[in-house]
Amino acid sequence: MTGLKKVKTAVLISGRGSNLYNLIKFSKTKKSPILIDLVVSDKKDAMGLKYTRKNKIKKKIIDYKNKKTAEKDLLLILKKRKIKFICLAGFMKILSNSFIKKFKKKIINIHPSFLPKYKGLNTSVRALNNNEKFSGCTVHYVNSKLDSGKIIMQKKVKIVKNETPISLDKKIIKEEHKLYPAAILKVFN
Ligand code: GAR
Repeated sequence: MTGLKKVKTAVLISGRGSNLYNLIKFSKTKKSPILIDLVVSDKKDAMGLKYTRKNKIKKKIIDYKNKKTAEKDLLLILKKRKIKFICLAGFMKILSNSFIKKFKKKIINIHPSFLPKYKGLNTSVRALNNNEKFSGCTVHYVNSKLDSGKIIMQKKVKIVKNETPISLDKKIIKEEHKLYPAAILKVFN
């Protein structure tokens, strides 16, 4: 990407923000095709918001009491800031079809399972309850169905004897932090 302008990107979060932090670090590298210009959260007390101040990134809290108004507000700020790419990073709201259509193939998400297995919540608990041999993480394009868009990249994580949801989640998040930047590079190259 040297010499080329980086793509203005928004990261949407709801919580801890470890993927956000990781993407901010990545976006500052020379090879990154994205520039993080905006962080949006549906929760005003999301822990991940602390990374915006430190890195001088604009933040926006969107009140999700009413989904229609929320998406209208979201669209407005994305347009205002000329955002061209969206990374969901632990964003726990489902975007409507009409919103997604406006950013066709420009919204990606990271999910803590080896999709198509274990869409939705509590992925590690469910994988362990089913005695799976592995779980993993997946970066995929976002479509109107939950955790179902075209897969960009994914990584398997082995489940060992005496694995707990906590130990498995820890291994998965470590892989997520490698996978998300790699998937972004793949999208733009
Ligand atoms: C991550 O494990 C991410 O894959 C998951 O939420 C966590 C957010 O952690 N996302 C989903 O479950 C979306 N379906 P983070 O806030 O530390 O990045």
